[in-house]
Amino acid sequence: MTDRFEIRTFGCQMNQHDAEKIRNLLYHADFREAASDDPRDLVLIHTCSVRDKAENRLYTELGWLGLEKRDNPELLVGVGGCVAQQEGARLLRRFPQLDFVFGPQNLRHLPQLIDLARQRRRTLRIDYEDDYAARFELPERHPEFESASPGRAFVTVMEGCDLFCAYCVVPKTRGREVSRPSSAILREVCQLAESGVREVTLLGQTVNAYGRARPGRVAGELPFAELIRRVAAVDGIERVRFTSSHPMFVSQELIEAYASLPELCPHLHLPVQTGSDRMLQAMNRRHSRDDYLRIARDLRVARPDLALTTDLIVGFPGETREDFEQTLSLVREVGFVDSFSFKYSPRPDTPALRRSVPLVEPQEAQERLEELQQLQRSLTLQAHQRRVGESCEVLVEGDSRRGGGQKSGRCPYNRVVNFVTNPPLPTGSLARLQIIDATPHSLLAVEPDDAAVASLPLI
Ligand code: SAH
Ligand code: SF4
Ligand code: F3S
Repeated sequence: MTDRFEIRTFGCQMNQHDAEKIRNLLYHADFREAASDDPRDLVLIHTCSVRDKAENRLYTELGWLGLEKRDNPELLVGVGGCVAQQEGARLLRRFPQLDFVFGPQNLRHLPQLIDLARQRRRTLRIDYEDDYAARFELPERHPEFESASPGRAFVTVMEGCDLFCAYCVVPKTRGREVSRPSSAILREVCQLAESGVREVTLLGQTVNAYGRARPGRVAGELPFAELIRRVAAVDGIERVRFTSSHPMFVSQELIEAYASLPELCPHLHLPVQTGSDRMLQAMNRRHSRDDYLRIARDLRVARPDLALTTDLIVGFPGETREDFEQTLSLVREVGFVDSFSFKYSPRPDTPALRRSVPLVEPQEAQERLEELQQLQRSLTLQAHQRRVGESCEVLVEGDSRRGGGQKSGRCPYNRVVNFVTNPPLPTGSLARLQIIDATPHSLLAVEPDDAAVASLPLI
């Protein structure tokens, strides 16, 4: 009988995409995904370490799996991702129910680790991979492996981070910045386009640093803006996105690409973290508030309808009420369409941990977070409401979370659009719809012919 696996994934889009690569690898190793009530032979937890909450979810999961393994000693359990890289051998020592631990750069060794686990040998594989081509080039899609999101795909173009923001574990867990050769990226994009993919999202921890030469490392031979142009020029590719960017690497060429490349979606996720110059410096973000505002302005000159989203941290050590108010004012001034905001979480082995600046009181940090999120909700709702009456192009992703037969997709500005059409539009297709209503979370749209009916006054 075919072995069955389950994979539970936490963390960023890169981690989600790595989990897809793992699924494909497991298909090649003759595993198949377990349906929800199937018995499983292998459970993998693909972890994130960016905040302590994310890390703690691993320990909860391992607790449950320990109990399960008492009843089923044949079950194999592996842990991958950023906590695996960070904790390494400590995980194997602490959790006897664990068979193997593998880092984000060691995906391709997974079949071997599983074989060893079957022989009751517990293994750790968290070496930083020097062979960069091997790290990025995994087997092609298995014929039986179906993408969870036909029509769109993620493509890794660089990995790692050399910036060492004071709060962040990523440079430790993902290692040094390295770009993938553009020939391999373009080959993958062509294959995806041939299989029906219309939208690609280029992925990297600081994706717009792509192609930057680093001492002793393989660099992509193209600058990032040129890579985007080549990806957009691939036959069949209609939308290009990328994430996550750093303000330091928003070049003139990238700004110019927003002006001249219709395939480049009018949305940019550009983390700013804080609006206070003092805090930007304490966080080692390498740019000022004014730098960020200038970039936002220049981008909007190039693409007036650009939707900006961001990441924000409140309660970084030393943050005063005045610093926080600078964040609120920046959020208003830029008019972010949406943002992810977090309370600062002290992380192992990060520069901020070694400083003696006192933490912001947890109650105070919580109140700041709520105030910020309330402001963002009102800005998001306003941005959504401004679009009621517009027509928009939606890439259909599947059934809406709202149920009721609604489908869901994303518009070029990356907002969720819910809609009902008759007949239902197939997943992966592009459709032109009319926006008729807005909530803080999504837009509601109908087919253009229905819009006239929907907007008639009810008698
Ligand atoms: N590579 C991306 C994302 C890094 S992690 C980038 O540089 O933009 C995603 C977000 O998590 C960060 O932008 C930051 O807002 C948040 N984050 C990272 N470390 C954190 C910490 N220690 N506490 C709270 N939030 C954190
Ligand atoms: Fe972390 Fe900063 Fe690197 Fe982003 S740029 S991954 S926040 S160190
Ligand atoms: Fe988390 Fe690692 Fe991504 S720490 S956010 S999974 S790079």
